[in-house]
Amino acid sequence: MTGVDLTEETIFTWGAPPLKFGAGASDEVGFELSQYGVKRVLIVTDPGISAIGAPQRIADNLRRYEIDSEIFDGVHVEPTDDSMNKATEYARVQGPWDGFVAVGGGSAIDTAKAINLLTSHPGELMDYINKPIGSAKVPPGQLKPLIAVPTTAGTGSESTAMCVLDILSMKVKTGISHWRLRPTLAVIDPLLTLSLPAGVTAASGMDIVCHAVESYTARYYTTFDRKKPEERVTYCGSNPVSDLWCEKAMNLIAQSFRTAVHEGDNLEARSNMMMAATFAGMGFGNSGVHIPHANAYPIAGMVKDYRPADYPQDEPMVPHGESVSLTAPEAFRFSFESAPERHLRAAELMDPRADKVDDPREQLPSVLVSLMRDIGIPNGIGGVGYTEADVPDLVPGTMKQQRLLATCPKTPTEDDIADILTKSVENW
Ligand SMILES: [Fe+2]
Repeated sequence: MTGVDLTEETIFTWGAPPLKFGAGASDEVGFELSQYGVKRVLIVTDPGISAIGAPQRIADNLRRYEIDSEIFDGVHVEPTDDSMNKATEYARVQGPWDGFVAVGGGSAIDTAKAINLLTSHPGELMDYINKPIGSAKVPPGQLKPLIAVPTTAGTGSESTAMCVLDILSMKVKTGISHWRLRPTLAVIDPLLTLSLPAGVTAASGMDIVCHAVESYTARYYTTFDRKKPEERVTYCGSNPVSDLWCEKAMNLIAQSFRTAVHEGDNLEARSNMMMAATFAGMGFGNSGVHIPHANAYPIAGMVKDYRPADYPQDEPMVPHGESVSLTAPEAFRFSFESAPERHLRAAELMDPRADKVDDPREQLPSVLVSLMRDIGIPNGIGGVGYTEADVPDLVPGTMKQQRLLATCPKTPTEDDIADILTKSVENW
């Protein structure tokens, strides 16, 4: 080959599941699973979603295609090693299964990915979890069919190859990432999101915003060291295909995010947000996310007594979408100089009518702050109970997320992270 320096990376990878999208799509799960010849299926969900009835409706639909199913509704919102092990144990005892349906947010879909892996192949959760926490064992072969049916517009887990969980004993969030975990099919039905309360719509939507913008501003794939075929990872940095999906996701956010929060029964806005979530997943699921998501780990993990409106009130929590968004304005001020045109383009796509500010570095933060104020996101990490005095305790949790920090085109030091957190105590 001529003209190619093979010490530099020249290759990117991109993957996504097939989609079935639209109002009423969840009524076609039975037909879809029947195409795989499955006879016995485990439906994986959480108690809140189960109470709404969507999993039972899908079970009834499966019966029409002579597919037996059971509903496991023990998914823990923000899953842990403990909750995933319990779910797997249930699936092993009640199995065997020849397919899975995940109904819910990222927690249900990620738990179903783990169950599918651990019932399709030998081994325990820790064998497959990313290094250095687990052994990063590669799934030895194909998994069973898994159909993901998201009920929130947020994580994009239906299109990613990642399963995220908290390791309780180490107080750290990590995961399993391998292309074999990606759902076989994503069935996306905006009707399932019509009754989501405004607080959940706002927080989940900010997760989409951060996926799209972090992915779009991630290090370009050619700037990483060249990898051997067996070293290729799920996240390879921003690349031309991920960029397309992120741009479109930002565009849909501009059209519909505020409406979806303030007029929950607006089906067009709900459909656009579901598409935005999936498109952003098709972007960041291949490119990666960086500082805002790295900061989200300690912000959520060290929660004091914050209890967000519209979420279960039984334990303190910072919803994932809030935790990723609270330091985003400051993080993008920090990363601006490494890719100014991408930051400006993101601001333009998410708010084409925004007033231009004098300092170009402020354009994206001002668009984000205006959006967060309009939809009722807390004002900075101070809004969820932290003060400047907490910053030194938060920093190590962010620094543990080296894989994410290395995805930022300007890799932050410990002092940079402390500075970003301090300036994010209040965002306006
Ligand atoms: Fe996220």
